[in-house]
Amino acid sequence: MKKIVMLAALVAFIAISAIAFANPTAPTGELKVTEMMKSNKKPPVMFSHAKHAEAVPDCKTCHHTWDGKANPEKCSKCHTGRKSGKKDNMKNTMHKKCKGCHKELKKAGKKHGPTSCKKCHKK
Ligand code: HEC
Ligand code: HEC
Ligand code: HEC
Ligand code: HEC
Repeated sequence: MKKIVMLAALVAFIAISAIAFANPTAPTGELKVTEMMKSNKKPPVMFSHAKHAEAVPDCKTCHHTWDGKANPEKCSKCHTGRKSGKKDNMKNTMHKKCKGCHKELKKAGKKHGPTSCKKCHKK
């Protein structure tokens, strides 16, 4: 009897661990990157994780505070934009990160993402 209880506990433990330690998966498809800014002066930016998977294989290139275990947090959790006084504005932060990389790759003559406003801020 005791053995069965122990076994059941072990099975339950393994099942829970499998969920807790499962590798986080990047969302696929188009992702609206809108909640970061508190205003909406521009059309939303559609960000495709899928298209960046090959180009930017290291999640930490963008999720720079990620511990590598649980799902990475939203950028907007920390980059609260204009509301946060001295903290960097989300617009500047994202432009640096996103456009910055695209520009560098373009300069280097490599495959790159858009650098013009309309190609990111699609209607
Ligand atoms: C590589 C993609 C990319 C390009 C190119 C880009 N942006 Fe952005 N922009 C973003 C992201 C991401 C955000 C933050 C998320 C959001 O507000 O939708 C943002 C935010 C903004 C915001 C703040 C939005 C708000 O609601 O207050 C403005 C204004 C803006 N961009 C203007 C521009 C202009 C003007 C250009 C061209 C000179 C440009 N962007 C080019 C990605 C881009
Ligand atoms: C080129 C930049 C970039 C790369 C590389 C990247 N991500 Fe993201 N990821 C983002 C952006 C931007 C968001 C939207 C964040 C927001 O809404 O604040 C996001 C959102 C997410 C979310 C949803 C978070 C939430 O709470 O909604 C998960 C999960 C995630 N990414 C996982 C990953 C994993 C795992 C990898 C590596 C395989 C990865 N990402 C690589 C930029 C990136
Ligand atoms: C847990 C909080 C946290 C999360 C989540 C987070 N950041 Fe940051 N980020 C910071 C802090 C704090 C700084 C300033 C100190 C530093 O450079 O590390 C920063 C700095 C930056 C900078 C440099 C800013 C500059 O002006 O040079 C960029 C770019 C950036 N973050 C982009 C992102 C993106 C993109 C995401 C989401 C994919 C993200 N961050 C998620 C806390 C966070
Ligand atoms: C470290 C480099 C890097 C960073 C950071 C990066 N990108 Fe890109 N991006 C690329 C490359 C390379 C491509 C071309 C991929 C391809 O064509 O397969 C691309 C393509 C794109 C495209 C065109 C493909 C599509 O989805 O239709 C968009 C839009 C885009 N990026 C938006 C963003 C936004 C928004 C961010 C910031 C959240 C970002 N990128 C951050 C390298 C980067």
